[in-house]
Amino acid sequence: MKLLDGKKCAESLVADISRKVGEYVASGLRKPHMTIILVGEHAPSESYVKSKIKSCGNAGFESTLLRFPESVTEAELLAKIAEVNADRTTDGLIVQLPLPKHINQQHVINAIDPEKDIDGFHPMNFGRMSLGQKAFRPATAYGICKLLQFYEIPVWGKHCVVIGRSNIVGKPISIMLSNDFEIGNATVTLTHIETPRELLLDETRRADIVIVAVGIPGFVTADMVKDGAVLIDVGINRLADGKIVGDADFENVKEKCSWITPVPGGVGRMTVAALMINTLMAYQNNFN
Ligand code: GUN
Repeated sequence: MKLLDGKKCAESLVADISRKVGEYVASGLRKPHMTIILVGEHAPSESYVKSKIKSCGNAGFESTLLRFPESVTEAELLAKIAEVNADRTTDGLIVQLPLPKHINQQHVINAIDPEKDIDGFHPMNFGRMSLGQKAFRPATAYGICKLLQFYEIPVWGKHCVVIGRSNIVGKPISIMLSNDFEIGNATVTLTHIETPRELLLDETRRADIVIVAVGIPGFVTADMVKDGAVLIDVGINRLADGKIVGDADFENVKEKCSWITPVPGGVGRMTVAALMINTLMAYQNNFN
């Protein structure tokens, strides 16, 4: 078993970005700039936003954090998004999810200028990505592709099973790996909460690559994967004792895998790195 080290891969990608940014700045251009909107005091969101801001610093980007109380109205949030959309010095805009229940998440996502939508959640980017066109790709899915590429894991012609159909991970990664993308041409099965257990097992037991994103600690057990499988664990779950674990029963599953992502230090780090790639692309688009 070998570890797919997301920390190492992310650091290498961010170092490449930082070198490019250094060249832009040396030629007199401003730095790339990411703006993050954070609503309320959701602890995991605080932690994700902190790591995004830290990574911006490492990449040589400017970052701005706009905080709003839990009580902010949808109209107030939409007004701020319109303001950031119009600000020519912001290249990328993120609204950290989840949002409070009284705010319609899709209204908020739809309000972000697709040219600044570095999360790749706007229907315009999701559509372009699905069609195989140039797009901001949802960062976790794109980060998984980058990690597979970094470790030269063969994907072309492989059987890949995705567990979880969320709009931010499961759906986009299934589309990207099936497309003729830079990492793609896999044969993908997308399974989810309504997939009958027997069918799920049939699929995962013959998968070359299993990608799990369900948010349930220990969901993938050793009996669910074949010998030599590659396991990508997207889960970030905090247990009662504070320990962070993924969606796989890591200690037992790892014995059967050829490659596996650790949690933490796997996909989570890659999500942030992919966001930096998207921000650099937004910045370059602004100057081209
Ligand atoms: N919440 C959990 N993951 C994400 C993400 O990738 N982007 C945003 N904006 N919110 C999230």
